[in-house]
Amino acid sequence: MAKDSKSATDKILSSLDTLAESLKQSALKAKSQKEIEQLRVKFTGRKSKLVTILRKIKDLDPEGKKLVGSRANQLKNNFEEQLAAAQQDILEKSLSDIARTEAVDITLPGKKRQLGHLHPVTSMLHFAEDIFMRMGFEVVYPNEVDTDFNNFEALNMPENHPARDSWDTFWLEDGQIAITHTSAMQNRVLRSHPLPIRAIVPGRCFRNEATDARHEHTFFQIEGIYVDKGITIGDMLGTLKAFFTEFFERETEVKFTPDFFPFVEPGGMISLSCFICGGKGCAVCKKTGWLEILGCGMIHPNVLKMGGIDPDTYTGFAWGFGLERLIMLKFGIEDVRRFYSGNLKFIRQF
Ligand code: PHE
Repeated sequence: MAKDSKSATDKILSSLDTLAESLKQSALKAKSQKEIEQLRVKFTGRKSKLVTILRKIKDLDPEGKKLVGSRANQLKNNFEEQLAAAQQDILEKSLSDIARTEAVDITLPGKKRQLGHLHPVTSMLHFAEDIFMRMGFEVVYPNEVDTDFNNFEALNMPENHPARDSWDTFWLEDGQIAITHTSAMQNRVLRSHPLPIRAIVPGRCFRNEATDARHEHTFFQIEGIYVDKGITIGDMLGTLKAFFTEFFERETEVKFTPDFFPFVEPGGMISLSCFICGGKGCAVCKKTGWLEILGCGMIHPNVLKMGGIDPDTYTGFAWGFGLERLIMLKFGIEDVRRFYSGNLKFIRQF
């Protein structure tokens, strides 16, 4: 190798070494993917220092060219490796940043979610409807405002009938009524349903009276209406016993005591064997062993007639009970006003 060429080669090699060192330092300092790309262009691109240095290669002898060529290749490879390592560092750092800043502390106590649920009266209404539907009853909902005819007259209580006073009534200015009982639907059901009729009417009723632990001005009743040929009071007792046994989820006895409602004959009250004391007598059943629970009876011939049904061919029974009262007994609730008090502590127990 000529002496000149050798010193030229050494010069290029040493400038390559200097470049290699500065590339390494720059690669170590890179902080982002973007910076890495910029470095790549700056040091190996068409206008880079490397290209400028390599331009001088043409003046070297073959051995010098070989030496410089392989050193330049080595430099490029090293530089690529350094960039790749820097890239990996950047990636790992960003992942560990995410792990740190977005970490979920699984040891923190969870926030209790307060989910909504059905009101106890609604869920028990569904429960009762379900029992009756399985017994073959259809569910019909009442009009909450109805006429004097439906609330009273069609139930065998003509104008000025004294029994009307048994229902403390909210009258509307136009003479209609906020229904005092679900019996207000009897006439409509008798007229509109093909025989035999098996229907329950669950709905809100309204009474213009002072409230106390057992009375609310607004409450739910479930009316039952059953009409067919040859229906007797025995069918009614059997139906109600089956229902209450299912509703309270324990064997329940029913007792019929005569009472008066103008729209039934005979009419009466049904009492249930007190399941709190098992019939022995306690504070809830007032030491009688029985709980008075509903009004019922065989539908009065006049009511059937007004419903377009021939009382000589068909007979039927009807009942009406307050739903809240049953729920109170089922869950041991002592005051009916709790249901609509808006007290969430009470409601959330169900
Ligand atoms: N509607 C009566 C009431 O509210 C209950 C009842 C219904 C009685 C059906 C007899 C027959 O008191």
